[in-house]
Amino acid sequence: MTLPVILIIKMTKSTGSYTLHRGKLDMNRRSFNFRDMKIKEIRIISHGTPDYDAEVALRYKVLREPLGLNYTPEQLTDEKDEIHINAFSESGIVGCLLLKRVSDSEIKMRQVAVAEDHQGEGIGGELVRFCEEYARSCNYKVITLHARESAVKFYLSLGYEITGDRFTEVTLPHFPMRKNIGPLSPARIFHSPEK
Ligand SMILES: CC(C)(COP(=O)(O)OP(=O)(O)OC[C@H]1O[C@@H](n2cnc3c(N)ncnc32)[C@H](O)[C@@H]1OP(=O)(O)O)[C@@H](O)C(=O)NCCC(=O)NCCS
Repeated sequence: MTLPVILIIKMTKSTGSYTLHRGKLDMNRRSFNFRDMKIKEIRIISHGTPDYDAEVALRYKVLREPLGLNYTPEQLTDEKDEIHINAFSESGIVGCLLLKRVSDSEIKMRQVAVAEDHQGEGIGGELVRFCEEYARSCNYKVITLHARESAVKFYLSLGYEITGDRFTEVTLPHFPMRKNIGPLSPARIFHSPEK
C-alpha cells in the first residue's frame, strides 16, 4: 500500500536528530522516495562526527577546490554551533547546507553545495525547503544569504530576493539575498517524537 504524504517531520529529542521526508511513503518497502530523486533522506548531522568529515570533504570539493582555497582549522571550529543539514543517497552524502544564527529573527544560510554529479536533480531545492521548515520551527522570520552570482537564479526560483549590490567574497562575485518565511502551514503533518 502506498500512502501520499505531503510532509513529515520526525524529531528525536534524545539524539537531537531531525529528519524530514517529502514524497510518498511506501508502507510495504518501509522506505521514502523523494519524488524521482536519488536521495533517501535529509537530516541534521553533528559537528565533529564522521558525517561532518564527509560534509567538509564535499564542501571542499564543490566550493573550495575549484577556487584553489581550503578551510582553516579555525573556520571549521567556528562552525560547531551551526546547523548542518545533509542530503544522503544510498551511497552517502550528496548535498549540504549550513545555518548560522544571526539574531532571534534572522538565520543565515551558507555553504550550500550539491555533489557535481548530482546537480540539477532537485537536491539543492529540497535542502533549501528543509532548511526553511527547520528555521520556521525555530521561530526565525527571515533567512539571509550571500549568493554566488552563478547561483542567483537558483535562489530566485525558490522565492529569495536580491537585497543589495554585487560584492566579492572568496574571489567570486556575490549578491546579498533574503526570504521572509511565514509560520508553519496547517497542511503539514507532525509525528510524535520517537522513543
Ligand atoms: C547551486 C546548487 C546548490 C543548486 O543545487 P541543485 O541541486 O543543482 O539545484 P536544483 O536541481 O534543486 O535546482 C532548483 C532550481 O534552480 C534552478 N537552478 C539550479 N542551479 C541553477 C543555476 N546555476 N542557474 C540557474 N538556475 C539554476 C534549477 O533549474 C531548478 O529550477 P526549476 O525547479 O524551475 O527546475 C548546486 O548546483 C551547486 O552546488 N552548485 C555549485 C556550488 C554553488 O554554487 N553553491 C551555491 C553557493 S551560494
